[in-house]
Amino acid sequence: MPNKATARIPASTTNLGPGFDVLGLALQLYSTVELQEIDSGIELAIHGIDSDKISSDTDNIAYQAAGLVFDRCGYKPKGLRLVLTNGIPAIRGLGGSGTAILGGLLTANAICGEPFSTAALLDFATELDGHPDNVAASLLGGFVVSVMQDNHVHPIKLDCGSDLRVVVAIPDFPLSTKQARGVLPKTVQLADAIYNVSRSSLLVAAIATGNLEALSLAMHDRLHQPYRIPLIPGFDEVTEAAMQAGALSVALSGAGPSIAAYCTTSTQEVAAQMSRAFARHQISCDVKVLSIDSTGATVRICGWVNQPGHQGFG
Ligand code: HSE
Repeated sequence: MPNKATARIPASTTNLGPGFDVLGLALQLYSTVELQEIDSGIELAIHGIDSDKISSDTDNIAYQAAGLVFDRCGYKPKGLRLVLTNGIPAIRGLGGSGTAILGGLLTANAICGEPFSTAALLDFATELDGHPDNVAASLLGGFVVSVMQDNHVHPIKLDCGSDLRVVVAIPDFPLSTKQARGVLPKTVQLADAIYNVSRSSLLVAAIATGNLEALSLAMHDRLHQPYRIPLIPGFDEVTEAAMQAGALSVALSGAGPSIAAYCTTSTQEVAAQMSRAFARHQISCDVKVLSIDSTGATVRICGWVNQPGHQGFG
């Protein structure tokens, strides 16, 4: 059995407006998780962006995820060393917790000799994250539609072509998914459901056919954004600024507070205008121009060579 594995997992932006808890897109921004079985004890280390906001105790989500794999296949490691190198701003709507979960699952699965399929790992990841959209996109890469049926995730991945860029304005305040879900109503109007079904369907059709111009009509939402926008000062102005600067469409990234503008041109101008619009609300932000990750999570196994099928993932 290998005793060490390293996973590299892309960030994700989800919902894309109308596709609440269903649509996700993997982005070229990465975290890595390295897991090693050692002779005894537990060693956890967190490096990288926002490392002060991530637990280095046994409640760490990557460590918990690794433990879930070990429990479910009945493997008892003698000791564990886990190193999370975080490249994704934490609690900002970019799927950081999903990448940590996948990192723990993938590396533990590798150390156990891969008892679980990709599909099973996606189900475990969804169980831990609470919704499938972030983890499915980060695991598989590209644009992913995820449907839940009987506690299983049924994902379909689409390629987005090479032209699409996502300009993400990441404000300097966190917004937990728990808080952002807490403001949502328990029931919705039929008219709002129809509004979202139509736009979400158009969005998938637009990506599938490469008709990116249609994103401007497709990327609107009545199920979650209207309730979350009050939690994000400047949302309307940042959106307007991005559109004026040449974005095709704009949506909240996941549960927020980051705002994602979808572009095929003018990315630098869109980035500059989004930053200025946040600044007018006394909010400083980091703006990243990101390409789509079409590969998904990868895992590298150390200490065990010539084992076909254990090298790639995606
Ligand atoms: N679909 C989830 C939500 C994403 O909007 O609550 C959370 O990152």
